[in-house]
Amino acid sequence: MTYQVGYFIGSLSSASINRTLSKALIRLAPEDLSFTEIPIGNLPLYSPDYDSAYPPEATALKEAIAGSDAVLFVTPEYNRSIPGALKNAIDWASRPWGKNSFHHIPAAVIGASPGLIGTAVGQQSLRAVLGFCNARQMTSPEAYIQFKPDLYGADGEVFDEATAAFLSAFMAEFRDHVARVLTVLPRPA
Ligand code: FNR
Repeated sequence: MTYQVGYFIGSLSSASINRTLSKALIRLAPEDLSFTEIPIGNLPLYSPDYDSAYPPEATALKEAIAGSDAVLFVTPEYNRSIPGALKNAIDWASRPWGKNSFHHIPAAVIGASPGLIGTAVGQQSLRAVLGFCNARQMTSPEAYIQFKPDLYGADGEVFDEATAAFLSAFMAEFRDHVARVLTVLPRPA
């Protein structure tokens, strides 16, 4: 069986190092994971005023999550938290009340920064949000990536063996996490 993974890039930057990281993760992932990006850059700012009639971009977001077996967040840390665009997307997906798209969905979090702590604080912030949204998060391994440009090619090639092994182990564990969660919590049809 192939698991469909919807992935979020928390950055809207055209030169995003997290997008490069996402390409590396996809290259190194087990073959039974299939990936589709869930875009967040086209969403208006969420307001409860939309709850009675979601705009097409937000409906597409919710449909993309509904069509995924699991979600993967690859995100920068902004001011020791997550980028506003990503929080906005999560807020859209969590509503209207009673229709939270993240309920019981298997999820994993990873991120890259040029800095030494590699998004560790931002990831804790994201984990708190996903916890409230009732996603089933992979808690180990954690992956705080200090991004060193020389180690990655533009298409996500990873030139350092130890880094490639770490990212590949992260994705293998994510695959096992997804399989375990779906055994007890199958996605709604
Ligand atoms: C940052 N950056 C940053 N880095 C970090 O390690 N911790 C932080 O809290 C922040 N805060 C922050 C806020 C804002 C508004 C910006 C624009 C940047 C730096 C950040 O890690 C760097 O720009 C990365 O390249 C962002 O990832 P992407 O967009 O390249 O994927």
